[in-house]
Amino acid sequence: MIVESVVVVSAADAYGRTLGDIRGWLVFGHLVGVAVLAAGLGSYVAGLHRLSAARTRASLREAGPVIRWGEQYAITGVIIILATGVLLGFQVSAFDEAWLITSLVLFAVMVVFGRVVGVRLRRLLDRTDRGDATEDADETSSLLGSARSLAIHLPADLAVIIVLEILFLMAFRPGTWGIAASLVVAVLLVFGAFAVLSQSPAMERVEGGG
Ligand code: HEM
Repeated sequence: MIVESVVVVSAADAYGRTLGDIRGWLVFGHLVGVAVLAAGLGSYVAGLHRLSAARTRASLREAGPVIRWGEQYAITGVIIILATGVLLGFQVSAFDEAWLITSLVLFAVMVVFGRVVGVRLRRLLDRTDRGDATEDADETSSLLGSARSLAIHLPADLAVIIVLEILFLMAFRPGTWGIAASLVVAVLLVFGAFAVLSQSPAMERVEGGG
């Protein structure tokens, strides 16, 4: 029995990998981090959708837990990805490669945008939670306006586009031209997101909103 498990652990697959292969476990952990981040961003996007669809303070409040869960998952994913990614970078000696350097810069930009959105959302949700159903109309319309603000929705879209760009760079590890072309596509997607958001009826400003 013991002999059998040793054989299973040390048996290599078609690519020469075994269950005792540290790099394999790091890649596994890295991809778990990517999945957790994707779950977090998914919740975030669902929560933001609820915010832009909200027409009352009560429905704004309902978006709160979805967004807070999204934030927890996204932060956890970022920590796992960074820890495993740095170890992988040393393992495969890739810190001088353009795809990894570009990914790291984009990752930092994504974390900054994530923080910007996170802080703005936290402020909005705290304001929404304060007071009761009899709050004054001005404050409610200001909250609804903030919930539809481009300053919240655009950076969130940007974070999603950056994750897609990094995913491309990690999977294909292109050279300079490939990186440049993919960045052009990413920038076009950002403009597309801006155009869609600014023309969306759901993002129309509410009178008195910020
Ligand atoms: C949103 C961010 C990220 C995503 C979606 C992501 C995704 C991935 C994926 C899918 C792979 C597997 C590619 C393959 O096996 O062909 C990978 C590999 C890798 N990632 Fe990331 N990654 C991210 C962030 C990072 C960061 C921040 C670092 C470095 C600090 C990093 C370092 C690496 C390295 C070095 C590998 C190569 C592993 C190997 O060759 O065995 N990643 N990444």
